[in-house]
Amino acid sequence: MKKRGKKKKGTARRDTRIATSGLDPHGNFGIINPPVYHASTVLFPTVKDLKKAVSDPFNNTYYGRFGTPTSAAFEEAVAEIEGGERAIATSSGLAAITCALTAFLESGDHLLMADTVYEPTRKFCDGILKGFGVETEYYDPLIGGGIADLMRDNTHAVFMESPGSLTFEVQDVPAIAAAARERGVVSILDNTWGTPLFFRPFEHGVDIAIEAATKYISGHADAMLGAIIMKDVHFKRLKTATVALGNSAGPDDCYLGLRGLRTLSVRLARHQETGLTLARWLNKQPEVARMLHPALPDDPGHRLWKRDFIGTSGLFGVELNPVAEGKVEAMLDGFDLFGMGFSWGGFESLALPVEPNRSRSATTWKGKGPLLRIHAGLEDPDDLLADLEAGLKKLG
Ligand SMILES: Cc1ncc(COP(=O)(O)O)c(C=O)c1O
Repeated sequence: MKKRGKKKKGTARRDTRIATSGLDPHGNFGIINPPVYHASTVLFPTVKDLKKAVSDPFNNTYYGRFGTPTSAAFEEAVAEIEGGERAIATSSGLAAITCALTAFLESGDHLLMADTVYEPTRKFCDGILKGFGVETEYYDPLIGGGIADLMRDNTHAVFMESPGSLTFEVQDVPAIAAAARERGVVSILDNTWGTPLFFRPFEHGVDIAIEAATKYISGHADAMLGAIIMKDVHFKRLKTATVALGNSAGPDDCYLGLRGLRTLSVRLARHQETGLTLARWLNKQPEVARMLHPALPDDPGHRLWKRDFIGTSGLFGVELNPVAEGKVEAMLDGFDLFGMGFSWGGFESLALPVEPNRSRSATTWKGKGPLLRIHAGLEDPDDLLADLEAGLKKLG
């Protein structure tokens, strides 16, 4: 089978890998993209074939829920681009998180979780995991190597998300991952903001990377998809848990994720540029108290961001100076281009009012004014600036 880019494997640069990974056109009538297999039952021609599949269901086409050639193509590509060895596609980003945590934790275990984690991850820990006898301890995301002091004999996982949800604190991922590794504790990173392109989890010592592929990887606000990425050594355990939980990604969403990956690099470059343009402009406005954007030099996380990240996504925060709630509502309601809605990473710009203290317990968000989460989409940056300018005027 002549696979594109095979000769270059190992030496190919990032964008070449993005254009060639997970493809096998000459195994598919020369058609470049893989077919979308809708499958539950898989038939085996002989008992011998059936037995072979049963003996290794994770690596054979066995039953739809275990995966199809479509999910396998997405997994192969995302594993290669993220820098891992294997990947498991899941039905959403949150499913990737819950399957990964479930794989490594059992009753009596202690989990260290960043206080700035995505709120539904926290809800899973405080609800389901707690009910199953797993204790979650939230830590200050800026703890760095000091995480070692929080580790106990029954600590089995450390979870990071960098930068943190809503408030964008950059974690010292290498220091935390190293402390975990020293004690044989598995480290898991939600790398959705960093994407496989702007943060390289395995080069920073992380064991398991999570991507909410719903965001930038799919990139068009039309798919729900997650990925757990790992080295071979963790594959069996993670796949066993994912299968046991009955989680599998839909074939159409795997296809959209794979298609999105091909343009991730060019889209991200634009999200990055527009995001920086908007953030720098906002930073100078009298209505703005401060920006939460690790790529801006005066952001507290800038030093670590510069050390560890290769780029910045288009998602950031802006704290406004204290102002009557009604005025912020008028601004948000009046935006022409900035939509209000959850998720991010699509082509559309978003502005969302957020309240970090709703989901903090080890730290407190001390901002005094309203906080907005902005996603810079792919519209013309000048039109976005004009929309922001008109919106800020409404704050009086
Ligand atoms: C950082 C982060 N991780 C995970 C998720 C969950 O992804 P999904 O919506 O695909 O479940 C989100 C969604 O907003 C997120 O922002």
